[in-house]
Amino acid sequence: MAVQAPVINEDKLNAFMGQVVGELGATVNAGLIVIGDKLGLYKAMAQSGPITPGELADKTGTTERYIREWLNAQAAGGFVEYNPETQRYLLPAEQALALANEDSPAFVCGAFELATATLRSGVEIQSAFQSGAGFGWHQHDIGVSTGCERFFRPGYNANLVSSWIPALSGVEEKLRVGAKVADIGCGLGASTRLMAKAYSRSRFTGFDYHKESIELARKETKEAGLEDNTRFEVAPAASFPGTGYDLVATFDSLHDMGDPVGAAKHVRQALAADGTWLVVEPIAGDKVEQNLNPVGRAYYAFSTFLCTPNSLSQDVGLALGAQAGEKRIHDVATAAGFTRFRRVAETPFNAVYEVRP
Ligand SMILES: C[S@@+](CC[C@H](N)C(=O)[O-])C[C@H]1O[C@@H](n2cnc3c(N)ncnc32)[C@H](O)[C@@H]1O
Repeated sequence: MAVQAPVINEDKLNAFMGQVVGELGATVNAGLIVIGDKLGLYKAMAQSGPITPGELADKTGTTERYIREWLNAQAAGGFVEYNPETQRYLLPAEQALALANEDSPAFVCGAFELATATLRSGVEIQSAFQSGAGFGWHQHDIGVSTGCERFFRPGYNANLVSSWIPALSGVEEKLRVGAKVADIGCGLGASTRLMAKAYSRSRFTGFDYHKESIELARKETKEAGLEDNTRFEVAPAASFPGTGYDLVATFDSLHDMGDPVGAAKHVRQALAADGTWLVVEPIAGDKVEQNLNPVGRAYYAFSTFLCTPNSLSQDVGLALGAQAGEKRIHDVATAAGFTRFRRVAETPFNAVYEVRP
């Protein structure tokens, strides 16, 4: 039987085409955000007020013709404002917070460094779709690791010491007096350093299986002057050394692991009897339909390129995905023998769980 041609609703088609044009511009602009970030264009604009392309080029050691084109793309996307009378461009205060201020909770340039570096493995991930093979974190461009740190750091800066740790029962007191802490899957160690700086009497070790991340973590820690109470070691989650930890933390890394249950069992035996496992995971509902929103979209996309292939590249290959949701994280903890599990905080990007033996 011949298949009938679908009836096309012109309004829906036009609306979708409008959406797609916006997305096309946004996709290419991702590369321009990284250029603006790396060349200090946003930072220069944040300090300058309304500026001409020539002035911005002079300030940043760049060339006027490229800057003019870049500024027009920024203006068309609403990243900067253009005044046709003065022919000057302004980075509004709100955009400056998001694009020029590394310490702001709204800082987004790291997200675009992460996204553009992620796409460099497009060919390999495309063939992994067909073969089913994994693709490890270490196989990606290093910008995935450095961008990931800058992506998550603003959220940790804003929440970790001020609200997540105080939400855990009895942990802040232990950290103030002097506790033993492990940060598993620490990447470049932003979370480790934040805690080390806030709780100078405690000892922190960050572990990650990725050697290059650990080397960068050590370098940043030396520059921050935190070497007295902070170390970094290459170790996978299932076999990091040491026992008697008062606090073990996994920041946005549990779902990446091939064997999260194996890792959770190892955490359990490494914890002191009254120790705590702090699990920070991407925010997600348990059902697909709960995650069909802008944050879920970004996480599913990163998960397709990064988290799922990484998990598939390791033993077991459980591949929880970045949108695992609370129930699956709870199941992992229970399967590893933990008996207490509670959600203690959340932000637009993260859910925070306290897990105890
Ligand atoms: C999304 S990144 C998070 C990094 C860091 N915790 C942060 O919040 O910025 C996930 C990290 O998990 C690490 N990872 C993946 N599988 C691992 C494993 N089996 N053992 C230890 N680390 C692992 C990766 O190398 C990567 O640094």
